[in-house]
Amino acid sequence: MYNSKIIGLGRFVPENVVTNDELSTMMDTNDAWIQERTGIKERRWVKDSGDTTATMGVKAAKIAIERSGLDKDDIDFIIFATLSPDMYFPGPGVQVQEALDIKTIGALDVRNQCSGFVYAISVADQFIKTGMYKNVLVIGSELHSHGLDKTTRGRGVSVIFGDGAGAAVLTREEDTTKGILSTHLHSQGAHAKELVLEAPGMGTRWVTDIMEENNADDESYFPHMNGQFVFKNAVVRFSEVIMEGLNKNKLEVSDVDMLIPHQANLRISQFIQRKFQLEDSQVYNNIQRYGNTTAASIPIALTEAWEEGKIKEGDTVVLAAFGSGFTWGSIIIKW
Ligand code: UT7
Repeated sequence: MYNSKIIGLGRFVPENVVTNDELSTMMDTNDAWIQERTGIKERRWVKDSGDTTATMGVKAAKIAIERSGLDKDDIDFIIFATLSPDMYFPGPGVQVQEALDIKTIGALDVRNQCSGFVYAISVADQFIKTGMYKNVLVIGSELHSHGLDKTTRGRGVSVIFGDGAGAAVLTREEDTTKGILSTHLHSQGAHAKELVLEAPGMGTRWVTDIMEENNADDESYFPHMNGQFVFKNAVVRFSEVIMEGLNKNKLEVSDVDMLIPHQANLRISQFIQRKFQLEDSQVYNNIQRYGNTTAASIPIALTEAWEEGKIKEGDTVVLAAFGSGFTWGSIIIKW
């Protein structure tokens, strides 16, 4: 058995910045409410740049591969996490295989929303541990802005989400005291409808049904979130799954050099920070600048933290996520 380790990180966000003030021209909201409740000051929306979930993912991936020192042809497997694929099917993994112009290696799509990147890294880790693959490319990318209800009706959701992508290249680590030490995944489908985009779905109504009904009041094709319920569950699950990972590795909270929480809400991150009595330098947040980019949020934040020199060799790094499903998870890394 081997461990896996991250050897390259990349990120891409569209140029177009959307401020809270700009949102208040589209819907009944304001900068003070958004900042106070979420910490978000601005986010990136692709607008008319032509970027898609797949193209943003490819841009982040190219940077990650270059920084890894590997050649694109060294990649053995692609894993792509998103809730906003360019096409209903196939998923964007195959678009990456084509865009990178690499061999016909396997491409897997992960659909675990805000926990997508944590799930995807866990899958990569298992493939590398067993020796099946040596170098795996993991991407988290989202294009939310095309699918949000940008009217007052959708303000509880649409002010939160942003577009962007992050990527990581993982490779084999023979020293099993280094790299990814453990991953911890959970789900609770009882709360699937608390954070959901229901339509179109084979189990509910397909596009043709929606077109036939032609009902402008139909909200089922916009994301829905029971904000307070999600918030309350998030703080509990984040705490649990971080402790689960630390306990598994006989680590204390004080051993954590850097916690990268999924950027769901600055208040959630601050709650976790207070609960675990972590210093500002031990928790990385960038939701202020990008909003919640779901599967892209951890790889964007991890990449930025690494670029800023906040993650060094030997550090204990914790990734933790919670979101729609509900699904949640954590990863403990010895960098
Ligand atoms: O990434 C996946 C995981 N996601 C999360 O963990 C998100 C968890 N939830 C949250 O972050 C928060 O619940 C929200 C940020 C979504 C909402 O904050 P809140 O403090 O829970 O506000 P609320 O939903 O209870 O709404 C309070 C008030 C309501 O008005 P009334 O009923 O008190 O008159 C809302 O209609 O704020 C109103 N409101 C807004 N006002 C201005 C809701 N959205 C907005 C808005 N601008 N954008």
